[in-house]
Amino acid sequence: MPSKKRPEDLRSHRWLGVTDLRSFGHRSRLRQVGYDTGDWAGKPVIGIINTWSDINPCHVHLRTRAEEVKRGVLQAGGFPIELPALSLSESFVKPTTMLYRNLLAMEVEELLRSHPIDGAVLLGGCDKTTPGLLMGAISMNVPAIFMPAGPMLRGNWHGEVLGSGSDTWKYWDEKRAGKITEAQWEEIEGGIARSFGTCMTMGTAATMMAVAEALGFTLPGVSSIPAPDSNHPRAAKESGRRIVEMVWEDLKPSDIMSKEAVDNAIKVHMAMAGSTNCIIHLIAIARRAGIPLEMSRFDELSREVPVIVNVRPSGAYLMEDFFYAGGLRGLMSQLRSVLDLSAMTVTGKSVGANIEGAEVYKPDVIKSLNDPVSRDGATAVLTGNLAPRGCVMKPSAAEKRLHKHRGKVIAFEDYNHMAREVERDDLDVTADHILVLKNSGPQGGPGMPEWGMLPIPKKLVKQGVRDMVRISDARMSGTSYGACILHVAPESFVGGPLAFVQTGDEIEIDIPARKIHLHVSDEELARRKAAWKKPAPKYPRGYGALFSDHIGQADDGCDFDFLSRPGQVPEPEIH
Ligand code: FES
Ligand code: MG
Repeated sequence: MPSKKRPEDLRSHRWLGVTDLRSFGHRSRLRQVGYDTGDWAGKPVIGIINTWSDINPCHVHLRTRAEEVKRGVLQAGGFPIELPALSLSESFVKPTTMLYRNLLAMEVEELLRSHPIDGAVLLGGCDKTTPGLLMGAISMNVPAIFMPAGPMLRGNWHGEVLGSGSDTWKYWDEKRAGKITEAQWEEIEGGIARSFGTCMTMGTAATMMAVAEALGFTLPGVSSIPAPDSNHPRAAKESGRRIVEMVWEDLKPSDIMSKEAVDNAIKVHMAMAGSTNCIIHLIAIARRAGIPLEMSRFDELSREVPVIVNVRPSGAYLMEDFFYAGGLRGLMSQLRSVLDLSAMTVTGKSVGANIEGAEVYKPDVIKSLNDPVSRDGATAVLTGNLAPRGCVMKPSAAEKRLHKHRGKVIAFEDYNHMAREVERDDLDVTADHILVLKNSGPQGGPGMPEWGMLPIPKKLVKQGVRDMVRISDARMSGTSYGACILHVAPESFVGGPLAFVQTGDEIEIDIPARKIHLHVSDEELARRKAAWKKPAPKYPRGYGALFSDHIGQADDGCDFDFLSRPGQVPEPEIH
């Protein structure tokens, strides 16, 4: 593509290219660290936003990947600058990384704005980092390319393939049921995460990295490369080369984000049976670009696109197998008839051009629209008196007998209440009961933790029960499974109807009809509402207080109101 910019049009020119007192300061300070005119003059400055951290096992390799990106940037005639950003390690950050996704988004946007940056390479992949990086880059709208961290290798224990998350829950239940020993449980601990990289099941990380590619933000096929594969550093270098061209072409996030690109991403998400978290993140991402997106769109497209990717928790394989099967390009080639092939991407070419010649090499891992893994749909959005603004579930990951179900409620007021009760041997519960967890939403959790896959009560686990209907205003990990109804909006903490559910009530769910109903009369609900006391705020001060004051509900993507509203932030004054 021909260059649309001259060196004096670069954003960084205002810092480095002019001759005034301030630019003297900028240049002398670059000389201070060993650079000279040849390093920067007339060159795009590329910010490498790196979410590397010693305590983020999914991102440990990003320290060296940044060097590979720099090599590509230098080869293409750019000036690379690495800028560290909040790492958001899903495994370690408490109470939940979701509390901080918007903080990362804000940090990315302001890092790009406040520095002399012409284009950005975004390094991340662990769950919330992908949406955080994209939201910030979209709001700033300088040319940006996403280089995903990539999934780790398959887990292994006694010759059994282990998947992140999914097999943790599975073997935890086996241990609770007395089927495996403490020593075996410890062996599993040593075998389930064998390399750096993100979770390798179809969790939020794998889903969001694929969604970023489907939106057009990565080089083709890059989102499926396992982190330790040598294709991965090569892709990092290639992303570095490409971003320099993107700056000259002035190819910005606003050129890539479109209604069609968002629909493509949702369709890929459905075909993969991706994480339910994607619904929240994609709504937030799309709205940052000014593209209206509602939960109902996910439901519509999940009826159109069946699950064709056979990866856990909805299927049998793992992301490493998905890569060998042809990866995201292979998958998108199977979806050709339902995708908008004209959508623009970071390559400067369309989705159609990017998947030209793509093939599927293992048809049992990536199946076809005619012979899918499941026609049940990856996402159902239910509404009813219990969730006036909707709630979601993943039919393909739930036992079929529970798709239509009416049962008596056992209600838990909060997480600790629930955690105590489910371990009781004398809990009055059967497999037909419905477990309800309150105060786990954006404000109530706080940060909407991944508590939505409530544990099956111990008493039932011992009887062999492995699934039952569970309802909450929480999220659940993408690696989780079961008949879990999530994201109930509005949440109980702010007085949503979930707050008024009591043990002994009856709830009816009908997945095919997309209905959820609390069998309590309107009059009785009004009585309970009048008696309800709003819980005290969780935080008296600090970031948590800012979060509580500005966080949106799940159906609005949980963005901050002041970040998602329209309007152009002015470029910084330089003096
Ligand atoms: Fe990082 Fe799962 S913990 S992707
Ligand atoms: Mg996760």
